[in-house]
Amino acid sequence: TTNAYSELYRPQFHYTPEHGWMNDPNGMFYLDGEYHLFYQHYPYDIVWGPMHWGHAVSKDMLHWTQYPIALYPDDTGMIFSGSAVVDTHNTSGFGIDGKAPIVAIYTRNGTTVQDQSIAYSNDKGTTWKKYEGNPVIPNPGATDFRDPKMFWHEASKQWITVLVQHDRVKFYTSPNLKTWTYASEFGTNDGSHGGVWECPDVFPLKVDGGATTKWVLFVSTNPGSQAGGSGTQYFIGDFDGKTFTNSNPPAAINWVDHGSDNYAGVTWSNIPSSDGRRLFIGWMSCWNYACNTPTDPAKTWRSAMTVPRELELKTINGEIKLVANPITELNKLRRTPLKWTNETITPDDNNFFDSIQGKQYELDAEFKTDNTNVTEFGFKVRTGDSQYTKIFYDKVNSQLKIDRTESGALPNNANNGFAAVHAAALLPNDHIIKMRILVDANSVEVFANDGQLCMTDSIFPDDTSNGLELYTIGDDVTLKSLSYCLLNSATSR
Ligand code: FRU
Repeated sequence: TTNAYSELYRPQFHYTPEHGWMNDPNGMFYLDGEYHLFYQHYPYDIVWGPMHWGHAVSKDMLHWTQYPIALYPDDTGMIFSGSAVVDTHNTSGFGIDGKAPIVAIYTRNGTTVQDQSIAYSNDKGTTWKKYEGNPVIPNPGATDFRDPKMFWHEASKQWITVLVQHDRVKFYTSPNLKTWTYASEFGTNDGSHGGVWECPDVFPLKVDGGATTKWVLFVSTNPGSQAGGSGTQYFIGDFDGKTFTNSNPPAAINWVDHGSDNYAGVTWSNIPSSDGRRLFIGWMSCWNYACNTPTDPAKTWRSAMTVPRELELKTINGEIKLVANPITELNKLRRTPLKWTNETITPDDNNFFDSIQGKQYELDAEFKTDNTNVTEFGFKVRTGDSQYTKIFYDKVNSQLKIDRTESGALPNNANNGFAAVHAAALLPNDHIIKMRILVDANSVEVFANDGQLCMTDSIFPDDTSNGLELYTIGDDVTLKSLSYCLLNSATSR
């Protein structure tokens, strides 16, 4: 259609499929200057249905070209979530003409059981053949047994798959991606068990960029997240090629994101060591309302991905924590920023931004927190006729919050819990609270204190709700610095 990508609520710098339904990101790998993204996809409707793997390719993870559907369901089942690797040394034997094959592992969701199957591609992921020997990891007698993420473990020189079995994680090893041996289980007493575990990932990261490496295990859980619905928890520990050992007490729970809409996120494989980044993308929705969110009246598509993020481990107040920030490529979408320094905002002045209007932009602010009588301060974005989304620091409770109770249209199912305030603990650093905020047609993503805390929420404001406000309650607040920058669209086909 002529107006594809300009529909109501269509994000302009977040990936969306041109048509149909999307959920989890799957099988992401990098090869020859291109980032590949696959995803849970139902092309014939805008609600969840028999799952395919959609496919998109990008040189910068922002401008995506949609490719033909990669994997179709067949009479053995739907194609559920999974991952893909570049089999550089052709351990699988699927390669031809000396070129490394791409091998994907996915859950086959059959009528009775879930098990793991593989498929391979000899043309950089464009077309795929399912392996005749499937399934490669049969079901051990479990109801939930899915979402395999595989990677090459250099220290033990073997492939590893991590997957979930109900609310546990299981590890398997393989020399060739075809024969898998059970290695260990993790999670009996660890983390949040408020829901079914889904979409795990495990990868090493250097602590503070230094000589110490720790392993990070991601496990999505639905429901049971800290915002009430679907969410992704992480564990920090060690992995020896067989077993993951948690470095924190089992009861410790850490969330990748404290908003409501960042689920089933996993990381890219085959990023060259010359780059060295650990790159992540999540599904920007929540199963409490995912199939019922507002979309354009023509019902073209539903759901978006988060902005891609770079993950790091940093020591914060003596503890090793996950830090996530938008990929630096995003800076290329910036238009000319407006900048301010040392501005005093008073409680009765909400006209700071005056006539500034925007639907897709970035805010970068440093607030001084030393005025004792201030109770809260922050932004109202996408304001309009009685609509606003508040992103603020609640100084009384030392929490960062997003209030989307008045943000616009709501999902149309009962008890979806959408109209809520999301909150997470955050302390100032040297009396400063930093907020970097990305606003797009149907989302806000907040990265506080240089990515120490992330909060991602979808919102559905009217097309005309384009205002922006700064506010403080209780006393003046000083803005040490502020930048407001419109972002160019990155939509393409
Ligand atoms: C997570 C999930 C996965 C599953 C897929 C099905 O959102 O439930 O566990 O593989 O979605 O689409």
